[in-house]
Amino acid sequence: MTTDDDTTDFDPSTAHTARVYDYYLGGKDHFKADRIAGEHAERVHPHVRTSALENRKFMLRAVRYLAGQGVRQFLDIGTGIPTEPNLHQAVQEIEPAARVVYVDNDRLVLSHARALMTGTDEGRTTYVHADVRHPDSILTAPELLGTLDLSQPVAVSVIAIAHFLDDPQDPFGIVDQLMAAVPAGSYLVMSHATADFGPEMGEVARVYRESGMTAQVRTHDEFARFFTGMDLVDPGITTPHRWHPDIAPSETMDGQVQFYAGVARKN
Ligand SMILES: C[S@@+](CC[C@H](N)C(=O)[O-])C[C@H]1O[C@@H](n2cnc3c(N)ncnc32)[C@H](O)[C@@H]1O
Repeated sequence: MTTDDDTTDFDPSTAHTARVYDYYLGGKDHFKADRIAGEHAERVHPHVRTSALENRKFMLRAVRYLAGQGVRQFLDIGTGIPTEPNLHQAVQEIEPAARVVYVDNDRLVLSHARALMTGTDEGRTTYVHADVRHPDSILTAPELLGTLDLSQPVAVSVIAIAHFLDDPQDPFGIVDQLMAAVPAGSYLVMSHATADFGPEMGEVARVYRESGMTAQVRTHDEFARFFTGMDLVDPGITTPHRWHPDIAPSETMDGQVQFYAGVARKN
């Protein structure tokens, strides 16, 4: 991201990841700088929008799968601008008592947070405005502690956000710290941009960096490192459109969707 303190900055003249993603998803909550960065990214990777859309669908399938497995608590880090259905709507449809904590550091996401807190009466949904680079600020947030019982399993979703942390920001240590705070039986749900399927996503990362955002693609082995010590849920690490697809995945998308996705259980 652009500065070390995006929790207080709001600058519509600089592209931000949440708003560029909103541009890809066809939303209305982005500014000219975000559109310019998004259009530039589409020029270097004509299927970047497909990657974003398939990533979003993966998020929904993964959390529905976990709700179906009996997971009742969700911590979603890097939530994004509300886009229906949101995570809490997906899981509370399966388990109305599911509890969801959303976390993001984008001011625009914060301004929409109320739209994320319209859960069921039995369940609970809350929002923490925090930066994942400071996991303690998330794990000790009163909103989180008032909503989740950290002695019970939690699905921690870190979806399409770790590629906005470069190695010096230690994304592996951050994910480890988050997973250390939840008990056995919890899950890690992740997706991440990669250049393993072609150079285009690496070019997108370059466009992001040139637009003032931090971005780093990672290889299969680097992505696998996030799940060290955990049991990957079948089919293991794959692309978002091939993770528990609702319909037979299109082969045309292989190579277009330049993301990895995976879900793993902590033992
Ligand atoms: C590409 S969007 C992904 C949204 C959602 N997880 C999904 O996959 O549909 C990335 C989100 O991560 C957030 N983000 C990026 N860096 C962050 C940071 N350091 N701390 C918290 N949130 C961050 C952005 O504001 C944005 O909302």
